[in-house]
Amino acid sequence: MGWGETPWQPAPQRKVTAAGGLAALKLLLSVILVGLALRLLVDQSAYLLSPPTAAAEGEAARAAILATPPPATGSGGGSLPSNEVDDTFLAVATSMPRAAADKKENSQEESCDLFHGEWVPDSSGPAYTNASCRFIETPQNCLTNGRPDTGYLYWRWKPYGCRVPPFDGNKFLEDMRGKHWALIGDSILRNHVQSLLCLLSKVEDPSEVYHDRTFKSRRWHFASHNFTVSLIWAPFLIKAEIFEDDDGVSTSEIQLHLDVVDSDWTGQWDSFDYAVISAGQWFSKTAVYWENGAVSGCHYCKDKNLAELTFEYSFRKSLRKAFQFITSSPHKPVVFYRTWSPSHFENGEWFSGGACDRRVPFRPGEAGDRGSDKKMWRIEGEEFGRAIAGVGRPDDAGRLKLLDTFELSLLRPDGHSGPYRTYHPFDKASRTGKVQNDCLHWCLPGPIDAWNDIIMRMLAKN
Ligand SMILES: *[C@@H]1O[C@H](CO)[C@@H](O)[C@H](O)[C@H]1NC(C)=O
Ligand SMILES: *[C@@H]1O[C@H](CO)[C@@H](O)[C@H](O)[C@H]1NC(C)=O
Repeated sequence: MGWGETPWQPAPQRKVTAAGGLAALKLLLSVILVGLALRLLVDQSAYLLSPPTAAAEGEAARAAILATPPPATGSGGGSLPSNEVDDTFLAVATSMPRAAADKKENSQEESCDLFHGEWVPDSSGPAYTNASCRFIETPQNCLTNGRPDTGYLYWRWKPYGCRVPPFDGNKFLEDMRGKHWALIGDSILRNHVQSLLCLLSKVEDPSEVYHDRTFKSRRWHFASHNFTVSLIWAPFLIKAEIFEDDDGVSTSEIQLHLDVVDSDWTGQWDSFDYAVISAGQWFSKTAVYWENGAVSGCHYCKDKNLAELTFEYSFRKSLRKAFQFITSSPHKPVVFYRTWSPSHFENGEWFSGGACDRRVPFRPGEAGDRGSDKKMWRIEGEEFGRAIAGVGRPDDAGRLKLLDTFELSLLRPDGHSGPYRTYHPFDKASRTGKVQNDCLHWCLPGPIDAWNDIIMRMLAKN
């Protein structure tokens, strides 16, 4: 079991809240939860780490670790990949034989860790297509852009010990009548919103009721269900001054205020019934850090006379600040914090010819060490654990959930747009220069549709 939702739902303790024992109970809970978080973190790291490789720090090292050629299997596009479940691996990963695991499936449904498992072949295919959904933006529209292989569409996330049923748009919209969902984060979050809109628009086509000047923040309304989805652009979650043009070219360093939350989302907080929050790759950018109203340091500012601070530092500080806002606000929407979404560049980075040519998911453990991704993921786990431990009322703690999609995303090197971020990139007519790969964002339909399946499943549990 990872640090999924289950450990954070202190249901059994709920009845014990006699007036006098509240402080003691809170303390006890904190200790248990922190302890649990640490133990589970170690457990989970252990299997992700197999086999351990030499210390991997930084982007260059990561690229080197991943510089193994793609497997030969499944390279012929279009066909269903063969099922090659490695039983040895499975046994190692779950410490129990597969048959026993299946038998225990029903009894474990309640406590099952939705975030620990494997991708299994699934002939039913995606829930929507480029033809049925109008919300897929060009850089994620791999089908329309001409990606020739379709094997990546025929896999299903299978947690050990339980199942995640496909997203049920009808049920979702019925249950969410009159509700407002906010999804807050960066372009990966936007990727996630597109998936949600595609799944929901099978039931009702929403209308856009708001967008900002750059279309980065938007809102849709499903009139016959009175259901609202807001997409809120907040790549750092905290206050940031960003000087980038529409092509992503910076004219000046980002100014990042590590102790001030981004009012673009906090200002609307009271209107949210549910929020999905995430942060990510923007923290690796060159930025000047501010704390207590003064410059406290900088990341990657080579010609400035400023203390170099790591982006792990700013990531941790920012998450802590965001969680502080969430846990101290009197308004208590259900919050899903979605963990780090790993990229899969191999043989280089995005700027140096890196690509993601794999055609099948990794098997458990096959992803390798992934030192710097895991570092960010660990920070998220620690800060989430700290936030939960600081929440006084168990009911409130239960409303803060970890959507720990890191492992299942890490296992999908085959699910990125790659060169198919643009329309038919290898056509002679359209090829004006080097083809750039996107091994960070995800094809839609694609693996991250499972993020919504899992949200649905987490909602069903409550
Ligand atoms: C969807 O993708 C297929 C190729 O997979 C393409 O032939 C078709 O034109 C696309 N449809 C739309 C509406 O873009
Ligand atoms: C729609 O939902 C909002 C809350 O999001 C509520 O205030 C409003 O009254 C609802 N409208 C209708 C027609 O039910």
